[in-house]
Amino acid sequence: MMMATTTRVDDRPDDFLAPGHPVADARRYHSRAYAAAEEERLWPKVWLMACRLEEVEKVGDFVVFDIAHESIIVVRTAPDTVKAYYNVCQHRGRRLKDQSCGNTGKFIFCPFHGWRWTIDGKLDRVINREDWDDHPGYFDDKNLAEVKVDSWAGWVFISMNPDVEPLLDFLGPVPGFIDPYRLDECRIHWYKTIRFPCNWKTVINAFNENYHVETTHSQLNKFGLSKSPAFVRGKHAHFRVEVAAGSTSGQNLGSARNFKDLIESIEIRETERYDWLLALSTPYSVTAAQRLRSEISPDADPAAIVGKFRQLHREEMEKAGAKWPETINGDVVAAAGIDWHLFPNFIFLPSIDGALVYRARPDANDPEHCWYDVWWLSRFGPDNQPDWKHETFHSLEEARGVNRFLEQDFSNLKAVQKGIHSRGFKGSAYNPVQEVEVIHFERMLDDYIGADAAR
Ligand code: FES
Ligand SMILES: [Fe+2]
Repeated sequence: MMMATTTRVDDRPDDFLAPGHPVADARRYHSRAYAAAEEERLWPKVWLMACRLEEVEKVGDFVVFDIAHESIIVVRTAPDTVKAYYNVCQHRGRRLKDQSCGNTGKFIFCPFHGWRWTIDGKLDRVINREDWDDHPGYFDDKNLAEVKVDSWAGWVFISMNPDVEPLLDFLGPVPGFIDPYRLDECRIHWYKTIRFPCNWKTVINAFNENYHVETTHSQLNKFGLSKSPAFVRGKHAHFRVEVAAGSTSGQNLGSARNFKDLIESIEIRETERYDWLLALSTPYSVTAAQRLRSEISPDADPAAIVGKFRQLHREEMEKAGAKWPETINGDVVAAAGIDWHLFPNFIFLPSIDGALVYRARPDANDPEHCWYDVWWLSRFGPDNQPDWKHETFHSLEEARGVNRFLEQDFSNLKAVQKGIHSRGFKGSAYNPVQEVEVIHFERMLDDYIGADAAR
């Protein structure tokens, strides 16, 4: 049974910080008992992001979403309808789809004895059906087992919980912050999956705060140091970077101390980020930054320089036929911040150019491994739609070189997973301002799973 959940809006995690308060048990990051409790009390209870709508664009397109031991088929059944089923044959339990995506046509077929369902989930064909002639009604409950499906901001969510709250209730205040970004208009530019040598929650927490940036991504320090206070929003949480006045970039432009001027700072930030991360900055913003010097005086007011940069950014995006998200303004960016954690396993960084998206899924058989999915969604013109291909890497070693920036984050994961086994580890200590997302995540896990499930 699902345990009661508490909605905490904008509160501070005092209970986790009181002297002597028991910290979250580190065993939840490696124990099989805790992973089993997640399979019973977490994954089947919540809404989970399964894929993007554009991954199931045409009727018959399907994506298989695996989560722990469960596997769900998400399939487009009509131009305006997406359904989801457990990926299991109602005859003898074979997984129906072995491949992770494709087009199934009008039917879903089991390769074992050939039973077949329409994509609406109705049993359509049984080989030697006459063998059941003396058993009327035998097939009445043999349609595919359906799971709940809904979508928001271009993402398809599923829930195995027939009594789950509506998706919008689950999301709570999140759409109010994010809808202006029009992420539904974004499309996948690249999509990678990597098997990581750590628990899925170790990954979530590595991306759940900005406190690590000064040390892990020290190349950014030249743009000025910043703090990133985090806030609870219902079951979810986010953090903001304290941004320079007038900036709509979501990044602290910092002092121009390390640069000739602000223009150089913007240009280096955009080109480096595009180079290192392949996301959040785009050819649109890089070209805009490169045009800046010939379009405005370096002595102009910083707000005017940032404003000019945005104007050029928009020009470049529109030149490529992509739609500039009119609804994003400085207030929207200041309120949303740069990073959102949607409980339990979905993180995204919204921006003018799109969204960088992370998802962590447990390895069904090993709580010290997981699958990390990362997408960059961006804005494209109708004639410039990206030709993307989902790439999977079976180890960090195999993935070496895929993303210079994210590999700085990856470098901590295995080491954290090892470290938390130590007798000398007293349990996580938390920054009460900048690690509120991590604390809230631990508390939400307690709400769903219970604090003692790792024992
Ligand atoms: S197990 Fe699927 S048809 Fe027999
Ligand atoms: Fe990072």
